Amino acid sequence: MKMQERAPQTWTDMDDPVRDRILAAFLEAGDRYVSGSELSQRLGLTRTAIWKHIQALSDLGFVFAAAPRRGYRLQSAPDLLLAPLLYRQLPQGAQFGRHVVWLPEVDSTNAIAAQLAAKGAPHGTVVTALVQNGGRGRRGRAWFSPQGGLWMSLILRRPLPLAKAHELTLLTSVAVHRAVRRQTDLPLAIKWPNDLLCRGRKVCGILAEIRAEGETVEHAVLGIGLNTNIPDTDFPSDIREIATSLLVESGRPVSHLQLVGELFRELEPMYDALARGEDSFAAVADEWRAHSATLGQRVRVQTGHRVLTGLAERLDDDGVLHLRCDDGTSVAIHSGDVLWPNSSAGA
Ligand code: BTN
Repeated sequence: MKMQERAPQTWTDMDDPVRDRILAAFLEAGDRYVSGSELSQRLGLTRTAIWKHIQALSDLGFVFAAAPRRGYRLQSAPDLLLAPLLYRQLPQGAQFGRHVVWLPEVDSTNAIAAQLAAKGAPHGTVVTALVQNGGRGRRGRAWFSPQGGLWMSLILRRPLPLAKAHELTLLTSVAVHRAVRRQTDLPLAIKWPNDLLCRGRKVCGILAEIRAEGETVEHAVLGIGLNTNIPDTDFPSDIREIATSLLVESGRPVSHLQLVGELFRELEPMYDALARGEDSFAAVADEWRAHSATLGQRVRVQTGHRVLTGLAERLDDDGVLHLRCDDGTSVAIHSGDVLWPNSSAGA
C-alpha cells in the first residue's frame, strides 16, 4: 500500500485512530477475552467493522486467540511502532510519540512529516514507515531504506533560536548512541556532526529539516534512519562497504519499540532544555567527544561548496568543529559533513 501520493488534507489524515483504539482496548484487557459486542459498544462500531480491523491487525502480525461466546484475546504483538504499543514505552507526560502516523510504505517519512507539520500536526508527532522508496539523506543524497530498518521523523515545534538548530542533530546523535548502547554492547562512534558508525561503517544518519521565521525555528522535522534489523545480504554491494546494521554487527535483532522508547526518553529532555535556551549540547559535549570518530583524525570536511582538509582538532561546547588546515590555519566549522576517505561526495 502506498499512501504518500496524496497530500494530507489535515494532520490526522494519515492516522488510523479506529485501529489504534481497538488495539488499545486489547492491550488494556491483557489476558482477558474481549467480546465483539463489548468492543462495538465501547467504540461505537459495527461488529463487522471490528472484525475487519482484527483481520487487518492479524495481517500485521498480531496473534489473537478466539473463543466462542467470549470473543478475542491478544496473544502476541509484533515489534511495530504503532501508537498504542509505543505509548507503553514512554514515560508519563512525554510529548514525543504521543501521536504516531505509521505507514507500511512511503517515499520519505521526512516529506510526510513536513506536510503534516504544515497542516498543524502537534509537537512530538512521529511519522514512521516499514519501507521508504525515496528516503532522503543529507546534501540531497538518497537514503537506502529497506524493510528491517528504523525510519522515522519527529515533528518538533518549540520555538528555537536558529543559531542553536545545529545542536539539535548533535544532541540526537548522543541520544541515539545512548539508546543503542542500552540495547546492544556494540562499539559505536559518532562521526561529526551526527552519523553513528559501528566498526567504521555507518549505522545511523540524521536529517533535520528546519522551517524558520527570521532567526527562529518555527518547526523542525527530525529524521532518523537507523540500520537496525537489515541482513547483510540486503545491502547493495556499493553500500555494504560503507554501511552496516546492528543485526549484522551483533547477530541479534533489536526491538524497535524498546529502542525508540529509550531514544525518546533521552532526547525529549535534551530538546526541551535546548528550547528553554539552555546550553543543552554543552551538557553532553564530553560524552560526544568521548565517542567521537572524528576528533584527532585527519579529515576532509565539506562545508557549503568548499572541501577543507586538515586535522579535526577539537569540538567546542557549541558543537563547532575546529579544523587545523594543512597551511596551519585553524577554521571553525559550524555545519558540514566529514567525507569518507575514498569518496568525492561523502556518504
Ligand atoms: C544522512 O544522510 O546521514 C541522513 C539520513 C537520514 C535518513 C532518515 S530515514 C527517516 C527520515 N526520512 C528520510 O527521508 N530521511 C530520514
